[in-house]
Amino acid sequence: MLFEITHLDELDSTNEYLKRIESNIAVEEQKAYVVYTDYQTNGRGAGTNKWFSNKGENLLCSFIFKPKVSPNEQFIISKITSLALIDLLAHFNIKASIKWPNDILVNKKKIAGILIENSIVATQIISCIIGVGLNVNQAFFDPVLNATSMHCQTKQNYNIRNVLDIFLNKFNTWYSYIEHKNILNSVYFKNLFGTDGFYQYKSKNDFFEAKIVDVDEQGTLKLRDENNNEFEFKFKEVELII
Ligand code: BTN
Repeated sequence: MLFEITHLDELDSTNEYLKRIESNIAVEEQKAYVVYTDYQTNGRGAGTNKWFSNKGENLLCSFIFKPKVSPNEQFIISKITSLALIDLLAHFNIKASIKWPNDILVNKKKIAGILIENSIVATQIISCIIGVGLNVNQAFFDPVLNATSMHCQTKQNYNIRNVLDIFLNKFNTWYSYIEHKNILNSVYFKNLFGTDGFYQYKSKNDFFEAKIVDVDEQGTLKLRDENNNEFEFKFKEVELII
């Protein structure tokens, strides 16, 4: 995939910006249009959450393209993006893991979040916007956020554009496995937090301990408790307590 990269000093949200310009650009399979910014005035997280980031310190980017997957396997795009972030961090000697569905953790703290928004018409994804917020050089976070950054982990400072280039490179590598779902699924599972033992989860009306046994192509999380009962959860139906 080719990437056409634009930098803008300030935006409301890189995802929202791409949605606004979507009708003026040709959304293609082999080319993605990337935008990154120093500051978002209305950065968006999953659901109704907001994404806060100090000016000029972190990677705030989104890209739009037409993915080669059908709507019923759309979670594969999240898996690819998560693996690209894991590899990008490994490139800088930072060991990270994936917190289902869309977070990246280092030492049980959040270092990155992914916001994917697909436009589906009939049985096709006509465009996919992948937004990534990666904490790079920010040194301090509100403790309630339980967040960290590359700088907090290594005490180094990084060039944001270089971090973006490496991320897109890693994305391309994993995207080339799109037809090899078994490889993507197994590498994703290996990098997933919570597969090696029992952790605490909170569902609508319950706290319980469970272990992850699978995440399928729709993104459904399969958990098993200590009595060998299996449970399935969609987004927002369950939360890992870390
Ligand atoms: C989450 O963890 O809830 C997802 C966070 C995604 C944040 C990124 S920052 C760049 C892009 N633009 C947005 O408004 N959100 C995503």
